[in-house]
Amino acid sequence: MNEQTKVYLNGEFLPRREARISVMDRGFLFGDGVYEVIPCYSGKLFRLEHHLSRLDDSLAGIRMASPHDHAEWRSILEELVAQQPCSEQSIYLQVTRGSTGERDHAIPRGIQPTVFAMAMPFEEPDPQLAEEGVSAVTLDDIRWRLCNIKAITLLANVLVKQEARDQGAIEAILIRDGIAHEGAASNLFMVENGVITTPPKSRFLLPGITRDLVLELAQREKLPCREEAVSEQRLQQMDELWLTSSTKEVIPVTHLNDRPIGNGRPGPMFRQMAALYADYKARIKAGTRY
Ligand SMILES: Cc1ncc(COP(=O)(O)O)c(C=O)c1O
Repeated sequence: MNEQTKVYLNGEFLPRREARISVMDRGFLFGDGVYEVIPCYSGKLFRLEHHLSRLDDSLAGIRMASPHDHAEWRSILEELVAQQPCSEQSIYLQVTRGSTGERDHAIPRGIQPTVFAMAMPFEEPDPQLAEEGVSAVTLDDIRWRLCNIKAITLLANVLVKQEARDQGAIEAILIRDGIAHEGAASNLFMVENGVITTPPKSRFLLPGITRDLVLELAQREKLPCREEAVSEQRLQQMDELWLTSSTKEVIPVTHLNDRPIGNGRPGPMFRQMAALYADYKARIKAGTRY
């Protein structure tokens, strides 16, 4: 992606270097805004309606009206996709509350939001991650209590992710009051005695689009699954752990806090889910109805 790449800002498509916002924008001053990351495979926006519904929920959660309906969002994002040189992309969409020229915490009336979207080249997850598995660590969940909102205010996520990296792990699994909720930028799945388990939706985790898809694929395949709170202690005893996100898709965690999960290799249910996910993606790319 270079400075000539077209981005969308408040009704215009323009080269990134020409896109400008005010330093008084509340997104810049307060982190007052929400976002989405939407993969685009073979030029097709993946699960767009699900992402737009979550965007509506995030906006409602921060007391903002959506500046566009779904048809308008679709047309903006499809136009952005069409203006890019490659077909495999990841779309970043951000809506902030905008600027009145004042810095005041209280929400001003009649303010115009700032709408920004850009396309980044989508890099397929490294196949070695699925082959070998990854390491994760458990860390204290230092975030706020509205993690269901996809807020741009990501400083706590940045810090825990870096702490995980400093410890040689790829992701931090976040623990609040002894319970594992999700990763710093991913949802959490576990397998115990053949049952796929994921923490239930709550204010302590983001309702991931990939999370829902994995549950959907499991149910379609009649694989046993449940939504259940899991303690940090129980986490270590699971047969398998997986992380999911739009950009990571599904990856197996084979080591947690330097100790093996199961036999320390990606498990059979992970392989089954990875195949179901790959098949779903291939059908979307080919335009075949599922
Ligand atoms: C905190 C958090 N949880 C979960 C996810 C996974 O969500 P999705 O599957 O919609 O990408 C993300 C994605 O960035 C995230 O930041």
